Amino acid sequence: MALANYVKSMIEEKDWYITNLSNIAACLWQQLPDVSWVGFYLMNDITDSCSGEDKELILGPFQGKVACTHIAINRGVCGVSAGEDKTLIVPDVSKFAGYIACDSDARSEIVVPLHNEKGDVIGVLDIDSNTLGRFSEKNEESADLIECAALISKILPDSSLK
Ligand code: SME
Repeated sequence: MALANYVKSMIEEKDWYITNLSNIAACLWQQLPDVSWVGFYLMNDITDSCSGEDKELILGPFQGKVACTHIAINRGVCGVSAGEDKTLIVPDVSKFAGYIACDSDARSEIVVPLHNEKGDVIGVLDIDSNTLGRFSEKNEESADLIECAALISKILPDSSLK
């Protein structure tokens, strides 16, 4: 599919994964119409001296406005997608309980989990739009983005980021 082909060409040459993710974010940003933010949140281990080791999402390469830097697992669309290992398509973000508004103009969102080779969630691909209902489960573009995420997963490190 069109977007997946771009991603494929960008990961062909092995590079630092942050370098690849930066260009993939830029490419999706250039190719997708009517999107306001495209980027990655990556799983980060955080050690809390009281409760032991935990995880959160931390902002990775992106295109768009300045965004939230840390998202707890199971919080917001990204945190729920990562926590439940599910692609989430939110046609109206105002109806999503716990939605994290980094940009008050954002109206709809798609979040696709990324995995390491073992199948653990190691981050998410997050795309926002200022248009209500911009993303749909039924269209080819969503399937294309899920395919992109599967390709991107191949270049991520095995374990969570330290
Ligand atoms: N809206 C997201 C937060 C990230 S920004 O959209 C870039 C969420 O609810 O998880």
